[in-house]
Amino acid sequence: MKFFIDTANVEAIRKAHERGMVDGVTTNPSLVAKEGKDFRKIVDEIASFVTGPISLEAVSEDAEGMMKEARELNSWIDNAAIKIPMTWEGLKVVKQCADEGIQTNVTLCFSANQALLAAKAGASFVSPFIGRLDDVGHTGMELIESIAQIYVNYGFETEIIVASIRHPIHVYEAALIGADIATIPPAVLDKMVNHPLTDIGIQKFLDDWKKVPKK
Ligand code: E4P
Repeated sequence: MKFFIDTANVEAIRKAHERGMVDGVTTNPSLVAKEGKDFRKIVDEIASFVTGPISLEAVSEDAEGMMKEARELNSWIDNAAIKIPMTWEGLKVVKQCADEGIQTNVTLCFSANQALLAAKAGASFVSPFIGRLDDVGHTGMELIESIAQIYVNYGFETEIIVASIRHPIHVYEAALIGADIATIPPAVLDKMVNHPLTDIGIQKFLDDWKKVPKK
């Protein structure tokens, strides 16, 4: 299972990278806005140490504008994956990008049929937003199971990025399903290592070690 880090915060990505947990990065306009820094500068900083796919979102609404952005963003770094929203205009761009060898990540996916369209258009990645589905009373993770089954049925190569992850159980459930990738917010990644019995166990071993006679 690949771990992408879902943030535009360079220091958070660096920390996760030093822990050996970064196979790629996903950003979106909201995450970039939080940083209050020039987008290009952020992207160059991330790309200076992340070699896996870095998702950069196009914000035009028409195919022509999105395609122009896709080519521009793709020229910035060697490992860009252009985030394209799940619309008919977006799907045209996904197809064109596939023809031009530009990686794409179809974003804002909320149904299995949308994911089917993304795969047929030739998307490199599709991002179903499970947390936002949970927010409106659906079980987001069921969508991941459905998409995974559909992609297996037809041998689609589009990789599923489980997105909008809110807590460690989302990562666990995604892993059980066998999702290709989870894009994990830094705070969720931090929590994944924790277990109270680990802390108690370490403390007990340290305390007992003090009792071992030294010579
Ligand atoms: C992923 O690519 C998205 O940017 C992200 O997971 C959205 O998460 P949110 O629903 O917490 O904003």
